[in-house]
Amino acid sequence: MFGPPGAGKGTQAELIEKKFGAVHISTGDILREAVANGTEIGKLAKSYMDRGELVPDEVVIDIAIAKLQEIGDSGFLLDGFPRTVAQAEALDKALSASGIPLDTVISLNVPEEEIVRRLSGRRVCTECGAIYHIDSIPDGTLNCLLCGGKLIQRADDNPESIRNRLRVYDEQTSPVLDYYRGRGILVEINAVGTVEEVFCRLMEALCSDKA
Ligand code: AP5
Ligand code: MG
Repeated sequence: MFGPPGAGKGTQAELIEKKFGAVHISTGDILREAVANGTEIGKLAKSYMDRGELVPDEVVIDIAIAKLQEIGDSGFLLDGFPRTVAQAEALDKALSASGIPLDTVISLNVPEEEIVRRLSGRRVCTECGAIYHIDSIPDGTLNCLLCGGKLIQRADDNPESIRNRLRVYDEQTSPVLDYYRGRGILVEINAVGTVEEVFCRLMEALCSDKA
């Protein structure tokens, strides 16, 4: 699942996971957990993440491949990985070694002004990771509507980091889309509209012959 920061990757991945039971692997979520737990990887990743820079390839590749090996034969949905051509090549190598094909690459397309609106109003649950937007929950909601956990703003959802994440996406991640476009497995989705509208478009694309 590709898309610039705030495109709705995590939101749509949760719905796909519920519908198909594919394991949702978000390298961003794994790294944030490492930061929260104060592990060595977390300490290293934090400075990159707060600035909106990519964490070095060798660190992220090890994390993603270990997670894929852990889930074995179950279907999976990668969110936010690969993000560089080197990561895409490492993923290819690991998948072909285990005989697992990559069926579809989804790109969620959203214009920049909508991204800034989405990210500046995002709130996430510290307990279960549920994703909200202040426009879609009652005014003054401080706790998760699913588990009661505390809702917070992510450390990288500030204007400077958002600008940097958008630049990094254009410079380092867009070339990965060309990599998959050349293979004919890229499906581009207009991700402007309600969460449900975008999910319907995704389902249509995933269930058509093209995907
Ligand atoms: P990561 O956590 O992947 O962040 P990101 O790519 O910047 O994307 P986001 O999680 O911010 O957005 P999203 O697309 O998931 O949107 P969401 O569904 O939350 O990565 C964070 C950092 O970790 C990176 O900057 C990097 O440092 C590091 N990292 C991670 N992976 C790495 C890798 N492979 N290599 C190197 N470094 C790596 O939605 C956003 C908001 O919009 C929410 O409020 C939501 O409610 C709302 N929303 C969603 N859909 C809609 C809709 N249709 N209409 C209206 N609002 C909507
Ligand atoms: Mg996300």
